[in-house]
Amino acid sequence: MTDHPPQTMGQQFGRRSWAEPWKIKMVEPLTVISREGRRKALIDAGYNTFLLRSEDVYIDLLTDSGTSAMSDRQWAGMMLGDEAYAGSRNFYHLENAIQTYYGYRHIVPTHQGRGAEHLLSRVAIEPGQWVAGNMYFTTTRLHQELAGATFVDVIIDEAHDPTNLHPFKGDVNLVKLEALIQRVGAEKVAYVSLAGTVNMAGGQPVSMANVKALRELCDRYGIKIYLDCTRMVENALFIQEREEGYASRSIAEILREFCGYTDGGWISAKKDSLVNIGGWLAVNDWTLFEELRNQVVIFEGLHTYGGLAGRDMEAMAIGIVESVQDDHVRSRVGQVRYLGELLTDWGIPIVQPVGGHAIFLDARRFYAHLPQDRFPAQTLAAELYLDSGIRSMERGIVSAGRDAKTGDHYYPKLELTRLTIPRRVYTQAHMDVTAEAVKAVFDAREQARGLKMVYEPKYLRFFQARFEPL
Ligand SMILES: Cc1ncc(COP(=O)(O)O)c(C=O)c1O
Repeated sequence: MTDHPPQTMGQQFGRRSWAEPWKIKMVEPLTVISREGRRKALIDAGYNTFLLRSEDVYIDLLTDSGTSAMSDRQWAGMMLGDEAYAGSRNFYHLENAIQTYYGYRHIVPTHQGRGAEHLLSRVAIEPGQWVAGNMYFTTTRLHQELAGATFVDVIIDEAHDPTNLHPFKGDVNLVKLEALIQRVGAEKVAYVSLAGTVNMAGGQPVSMANVKALRELCDRYGIKIYLDCTRMVENALFIQEREEGYASRSIAEILREFCGYTDGGWISAKKDSLVNIGGWLAVNDWTLFEELRNQVVIFEGLHTYGGLAGRDMEAMAIGIVESVQDDHVRSRVGQVRYLGELLTDWGIPIVQPVGGHAIFLDARRFYAHLPQDRFPAQTLAAELYLDSGIRSMERGIVSAGRDAKTGDHYYPKLELTRLTIPRRVYTQAHMDVTAEAVKAVFDAREQARGLKMVYEPKYLRFFQARFEPL
């Protein structure tokens, strides 16, 4: 007998343990290659984690996009694929799931999120117009710019401060938005591009009060709101937890109410909807839908498959239903929070409050000695891989790209390295291993020298840029 009874993992950290609401039916073995092997892999990849081979990665936290584990029901649904070119049964299942849970009327499937962004930008933007958004997302903004719009960030200032504890850092600053409308004229604002949660801000949510007020403002000026629904289910959990009046409302009810304040939405279903590929675009206005339905046949495929196989649409329809279950969302966001609490307890600088899909290490404070043009967040992703084989990604100056007009780097206030947690894939023990690896890199932080960019592609440079150590 010892004086201290054995403690569970949760008790050791002064909290109550939780468990995933699923059990594992099939496993995929993981291996970790040697440190020398990792060094070589990193050099071959030009110090860009997007260019690593996944077989050289141990715990893969590059993205939560298309990396979720599908359920037994989704896999069973794959066998029910109706691979008809037109009018597949699976399309109608998908349409029904979107109408039921997101509430939009007319649906266009796309192969993934950026396919939907492309179509919406082509149809809803006239060259010379403006698009206002709560921060930006890389592919979203690029499609808006390629369609001839100028993007303006109208998120609240708190979102740009990684230490600010505002509960809804994804909110739109209505004063900033109204100032833009008055400056350029309402007819020059193509639409408001609203995202819940805001990926680049650290997975931060938008409040119901904010979207309601945004609706009122936009109605006054006759401006449409289109919602990036990619992580709206996670956004709904934050509303349930933090906003008065929503504690006893289900995730599904909150999601539907939120979408009801917008004119349409699109999604990368590879996130919330628990599939490895897929997306859609949905609007309430028939005329707009007709145009989108016409465009989708040019770029994606017929309007009842949009670049997807019937089986993919079936898995997505089932995934949507699974994604809005309260216990699923709590466990998904709970796992992210667990990792965040460990890192916070150890004094490691991360974006606070912890968001829905990822932990964002604050590379500015992590490597306080590195200026932004030495790519601190990219350096951190490289060092973490070298230490442990864990793959993360840069969300800072490299992701922000260059100003199309001046050619200069954008210098975003947030210089972050993202540890993105796939849904239903890793266990709590993987989170412990990850936290320990980050701690080891943090302890060795003074030795980091930074990187220089030696190859820069024209668009979305973070995917393919190459670096060398300084
Ligand atoms: C918020 C958000 N919107 C849109 C996209 C683009 O979706 P996709 O990668 O499916 O093209 C992503 C992908 O990461 C995203 O996070």
